[in-house]
Amino acid sequence: MSGPTPTVEEVGLDVVLPLRSAVLRDGGPAAMPGDDDPATVHLAARTPDGAVVGVVRLSPAPCPWRPDARAPWQLRGMATDATVRGSGAGRALVEASRALVAARGGDLLWCNARESAAGFYERMGFAVVTDRFDVHPIGPHVGMLEDLVPLTPRELG
Ligand SMILES: CC(C)(COP(=O)(O)OP(=O)(O)OC[C@H]1O[C@@H](n2cnc3c(N)ncnc32)[C@H](O)[C@@H]1OP(=O)(O)O)[C@@H](O)C(=O)NCCC(=O)NCCS
Repeated sequence: MSGPTPTVEEVGLDVVLPLRSAVLRDGGPAAMPGDDDPATVHLAARTPDGAVVGVVRLSPAPCPWRPDARAPWQLRGMATDATVRGSGAGRALVEASRALVAARGGDLLWCNARESAAGFYERMGFAVVTDRFDVHPIGPHVGMLEDLVPLTPRELG
């Protein structure tokens, strides 16, 4: 894909499920526990014509590797359409995720990253903090995280 970076916006679960299913579940059921929690946020990246080319989910959740973290959030269900990869949709989603979590007082973003995507998250500023582990039936993963600069109460408004 060439052209402008997609715009990222908060959307309902119904908007993210088709791409999540196609990319991460081989077209199968793609709902995850916690998708409907009130604190869970779904983001979609759209091209100017409105097509959804990327999705991600964010939710407050304890970090297994930073049990003392004050306000950790987990990033899950990250997927971009194969036709746009390498053109900035993934980056736009991570940048929007960071901004959203910081705006909600979060100070840590973490994920179980597919090993094949670890290079992407590293490029985005995440660090690998675990050995490789298997998530059946998907495959090898690593734990990754990024410290965020929390917004001050004044910035939070
Ligand atoms: C991982 C994924 C979300 C990346 O999305 P994307 O739209 O290609 O990301 P971007 O185009 O914004 O890439 C941002 C940067 O990361 C790099 N990058 C992308 N995927 C990479 C990878 N797998 N390994 C190393 N670097 C990668 C890009 O080259 C780009 O580099 P730049 O800063 O020099 O421009 C996408 O490849 C995907 O959906 N993969 C299949 C599903 C998946 O594995 N999801 C993650 C589950 S944990």
